[in-house]
Parts: sequence; structure tokens; C-alpha cells
Amino acid sequence: FEAPYPPWDFTDRNSFAFETVIKRWPVILTGIIDNIYCRNHDLGVSLPSKSPEETALIEEQITEGKKIINEVGQIKYDMARDRALPRIPDDGEALTDVYNAELDRLTEKKQNTWLRVPWLYSECYLYRLVRSFFVQTKYWKDYDPFLQQKEATFQKSSKAIYQLATTMHELEGDKDSLVSDPDNLKVIFKEMIQMCLWGNATDLSMLTHLTHEDIQHLQSVGKDAQAARAEYILRDDQEKVWNHLMSLAGKADSRVDFVLDNAGFELFTDFVFADFLVTYTPYVSKVVFHPKLIPWFVSDVTPADFKSATKSLLSPTFFPEDNTSDAPAATASKESREHLYTMVKRWESYIQSGVFSLSVPIDYPLGASDVKANFWTSPYPYWNMEKLAPELFADLRQSSLAIFKGDLNFRKLTGDVQWPPSTPFETAIGPIAGKFPILSLRTNKADVIVAVDDEVAKKLDASGEKWRYNGKYALVLFQPKAE
Ligand code: F6P
Ligand code: MG
Repeated sequence: FEAPYPPWDFTDRNSFAFETVIKRWPVILTGIIDNIYCRNHDLGVSLPSKSPEETALIEEQITEGKKIINEVGQIKYDMARDRALPRIPDDGEALTDVYNAELDRLTEKKQNTWLRVPWLYSECYLYRLVRSFFVQTKYWKDYDPFLQQKEATFQKSSKAIYQLATTMHELEGDKDSLVSDPDNLKVIFKEMIQMCLWGNATDLSMLTHLTHEDIQHLQSVGKDAQAARAEYILRDDQEKVWNHLMSLAGKADSRVDFVLDNAGFELFTDFVFADFLVTYTPYVSKVVFHPKLIPWFVSDVTPADFKSATKSLLSPTFFPEDNTSDAPAATASKESREHLYTMVKRWESYIQSGVFSLSVPIDYPLGASDVKANFWTSPYPYWNMEKLAPELFADLRQSSLAIFKGDLNFRKLTGDVQWPPSTPFETAIGPIAGKFPILSLRTNKADVIVAVDDEVAKKLDASGEKWRYNGKYALVLFQPKAE
């Protein structure tokens, strides 16, 4: 499938694409360097207590860490000078050929330098290239340079987490009336879907410097906060999604798939939404979560993040208790702690029984080769999934609803193409439209936009507000399966 417009690239200096290559990537790369530097420092500090044999191994590890720092530094340098992208080395992990074949194609067109490549390709390539630096070492193969950042932000999310746990607890009391009256259920459904949508706002590749207050603000989940935000949903197919869900009534084995985005708070909201669907609605019996197999766009969920999420939530010490300005959130009542505990225990039982499952084994190490899951870390738009990832495609054909979370998934669904804003979602997603029911929950964090009235888009463009990417606006887009 070829879209009739080019993908977003870095030529428009007013685009978010340009800001990304000039400002955001250098910050993200510097974050990786700092992270390894700190790890190396800790390793160095541990040396005096070690035996000579251990010391030799740790020193080897530190040397490898320094090498990775140099390699990451080199990309930063090249980027700023618009140099050519290097090939992905043959590191034994997935997709090397895919990335290099595309790079060859771009080289032929003289688009293989950092400011000439298409944005979507180069950003995926960047995370794959960084991964290769770790893979080619002895001691850093399993190292996720974003893990600390993911955990730290998760720990700052306790306020909204306790609040949502209490909301779910309150639903418990209303369960009978909810299940017997679809109209009541619909009201809660809408709250849930919006909570899951705005959960996408805490994305670490966007928000490179988040204060505690920023996080709380982004995560405000009460009814009023949601109502205030509803006007920012520029296209809202919630009603259609609800009707689709109701049409699943009575069907055995209806399955919802979450193509996950970010770990931490967003993953928590995905769990809550999934829990609502299987526990409180009669429409869904099973949920499958799809993670990324390498560290990806800073905050995306890896199998390890998925596995540790419930453990962290159940740990009595995960959320800091003190009231310092850096961690003011967690003065949680005994009740809300219990609500959280009960809910997360239920999730664990769902994981045990297979009501919730990860699309790959939960213990998968980073970089595992998995013919289906590797598709999510390829540079491909999703419209050619049938051809490029036939097994994944066949799997999703069985899904009653595939929920694509977040901005990057939206960019891949639409090919990150410079569509006119009013292009229908159905057109923008190309041949994947109609193949299985698709729901995109996206807060706007990139230039690509579809399914919005031209008038509205023009007005917003003219207002000077960075509505395409400031994370304040959102889209809820549904495309049903063709009969
Ligand atoms: O760095 C660019 C980008 O793809 C943005 O479009 C977006 O801000 C971010 O990375 C990823 O966002 P999300 O986690 O919602 O996919
Ligand atoms: Mg992400």
C-alpha cells in the first residue's frame, strides 16, 4: 500500500518532527549516557569489597559500559551534523535486515542522513540501533537503560492509582445494577475508556523533565477532570465502540487485545480498563496484552515491565510514604490500600487463569526473537501487516477488538503520513481497515492528524496552539470489522 502523501520528515522547521531531531533525541540520548555512567559509577564503588576475580569481571563490565557511552555519544554527534545513519550491525537480534534494507533504499534516494530520513523510520531505527550497542556486549545484554526512569515515574503516580482503585472498589457494590442495566454500564464504560485514553499522557519520551505536580496534573482522573478534558477529544467514537461491545453479548470467547504503549501509570490504566471489561461487562472473556521486546521509545512496556507491574503495586514499600516535596502523593488511607490490594490480586488471578495474558511468555528476556511480537519494533506502518507479519495478522483477525494505545501506534496505523486532517480514519489506515475491529486511543503527540474536520484543524492551526503534539488533545477512533 502506498499512501498518496509523503510521510512526515524533518524538512518543515515548524514541525514537531524537527523539534524531535534537534532537541528531544539529544536529551533522550544524554539520558542513556547518564544512566550508564551512574551504573558504572556504582560498579566502581563496589570494587574494594570484591575478590580479584570479581574485580576483573566488573572492570570488564565498566569498560563495556564506557564503550556504549561512546557509541551513543557518536550518534548524538552525527545527528547534529546531519551525517549518514550507520547500518545496524549484525548483532544476532531481529530485524537487522529489515532496517538495513530500508536504509539502502533511502541511501539510493539520498535520504540517508539524520535530517533527511523520514521521521517514523528513523525514530524506530534509533531505538533498534541503541539496542545493538547493548546486545554486542557480554554484560549489558539484558540491561534496559530506561528502567529506572520508568520505575521512578510509576512511583510518583500513586495518587491517581489509589483513586482509581477506590473507584473500582465502589463499582463492586453497584455490580448487579450495572450488569442488569446497559445504560448504567455505558456511563461507566465512557469513564473507563477516557481514563485509559488520558493514561497515555504520561509518556517519558515526551516529558523529559516531569515534576511531581506535573505528573499529578496529567493523571487527574476524577469525573470533573475528565469532563473538562472531553472537549479536547477532537474525534470521539466512544459510542460506536460501546455499540460494538454490546454486539459481542452472548458470544463465547470474545477477546480484546491491547497493543500496549507505556509502562507504569499507562499500563495501570490498561489493566483497569481490561479489568472493567472482563469483570463488569458481560461482553469480554479474555484480554491479551502485546508488549515490546526491546527497550522502546523510552517508556514502552517490555515483558519485564509487565511482570513487575503487579508485584510493584502489591509491594507495601513501592510508593514512597513521606511528605517531602519530591514525593507528596502517597498518604494513602488504609481503605484505598486495601482497594488497590484487592484489585491487583484479582489481576494476578486473571493472569494465573489466562483471562489476562501476555502475547509472549512473561519471562521473555530482552531481544527474544518472536515472529509475531517483533513486528511491533519494526519500522513498518501497520497497513501491510497481512503481508509482513502474517501470523500476527491471523492472530488479530480472531480478536473481537484490538486497542492500539498511544501516539506511536497511531503514527504506525496511519503510516505517519501528511494526510489532510479530514482524511477518514478508514482511508488513513489503508488495507488493514475492516480486517479486525480497531480502536485507537491516542493523545496527540506528533504532527500526523486524521478524522478531524478541516475547519476545526484550520482554526487550531491558526490559533498558534501546538494542538497536534502538545498532548492536550486526543482522538478516539474506531474502525469496525467489515462484514
Ligand atoms: O518521539 C516521538 C514520539 O513518537 C511522539 O510522537 C510521541 O511523543 C512519543 O514518541 C511516543 O508517544 P507514545 O508513548 O504515546 O507512543
Ligand atoms: Mg510510548
